[in-house]
Amino acid sequence: SPPPPVATPPMGWNSWNKFGCDITEELIRETADAMVSSGMKAAGYQYVNIDDCWAEKNRTPDGKYEPHRTRFPSGIKALADYVHGKGLKLGIYTSAGTETCARTMPGSLDHEEVDAQTFADWGVDYLKYDNCHNQGRPALERYTKMGEALKKTGRPIVYALCEWGENKPWEWGKAAGAQLWRTTGDISDTWSSMTNLLDQQVGLEGYAGPGGWNDPDMLEVGNGGMTDAEYRSHFALWSLLNAPLLAGNDLRSMSEATKKILLNKDLLAVDQDWGGEQGRKIRDDGDTEVWAKPMSDGSEVVVLFNRGRAPATLSATTGEIGAPAASGYRVRDLWTGAETESAGTLRAGVPGHGSAVFRVWPSNQPKAAPHTTLSLGSPE
Ligand code: DGJ
Repeated sequence: SPPPPVATPPMGWNSWNKFGCDITEELIRETADAMVSSGMKAAGYQYVNIDDCWAEKNRTPDGKYEPHRTRFPSGIKALADYVHGKGLKLGIYTSAGTETCARTMPGSLDHEEVDAQTFADWGVDYLKYDNCHNQGRPALERYTKMGEALKKTGRPIVYALCEWGENKPWEWGKAAGAQLWRTTGDISDTWSSMTNLLDQQVGLEGYAGPGGWNDPDMLEVGNGGMTDAEYRSHFALWSLLNAPLLAGNDLRSMSEATKKILLNKDLLAVDQDWGGEQGRKIRDDGDTEVWAKPMSDGSEVVVLFNRGRAPATLSATTGEIGAPAASGYRVRDLWTGAETESAGTLRAGVPGHGSAVFRVWPSNQPKAAPHTTLSLGSPE
């Protein structure tokens, strides 16, 4: 079967962060509609992912999942058809255990083949596989079993491990058949949660690349628990980490500030850079952190991250972020789009908990060339 399309980190939406178990097929359809009308689809967002609580508590007499009768009365196949009709993809969720975490529905442990086939028959494109109620059985075995079952269906289904980093899934995720693996426990919509997850990504950079990505968990942008400056930092840093960008807010009612963050094309290009080299922390002193990521066109992206509450002036040199020596640099501010020239020091006034993000090209280099196929002009 063809490999799932994960040359770059998946982008989309997931129901859990905002809606928890309060989900319906109508919400999923409206979210797909909003993904198109908001411009998110055009910007590259693609997956509409249903999390926990979509099924009945018990399996059917022949041992299959039954979609929740009142919340998903038309069934998952009809929903997949609807989402596909919008040019989008549908994701689903279960747990490598006897029940899912919310305990509202069965897990897939010991039912891997029948469930994988059910998902494929329904036209599902993405599976998030959680870790609750796992009976203490070895993770590698549980996750490999589902990876093999998915492969056996012949349908390209993105396989996302949600094992919370407990058994270092970055070391065996690919072998288990997965294209992404959660590295931590759950995010919540707070500054301390977001920064705590960020800190846990340090050292994992080498495990990510095209076809297999570290997953620092879904986005909280727009859910109201952080300031817009904090959400900007969250989004910039997740992009720098090549995280899957799964919005976790209500796409039907986004503020302009939220849209501006989720639709920032320059940052999406950082996340989706075809080279797939995950960014890393270069330096932290006190409340100042410098993070950088090499881009495949030879430019560097730098995030000057103010961890403190007070506004501060932050700076970094082109040398420390790994830019090649040059007589000067062209610097693009990825929040404002403004371009300036620099001799080699990047400096910005940054609000508390905020970040400045720059992409830096040696001045003698051509403008960022997108990684597209060369279009050969037809002969006159
Ligand atoms: C735990 C996962 O880590 C979360 O992302 C979410 O899927 C919940 N379980 C659902 O119960």
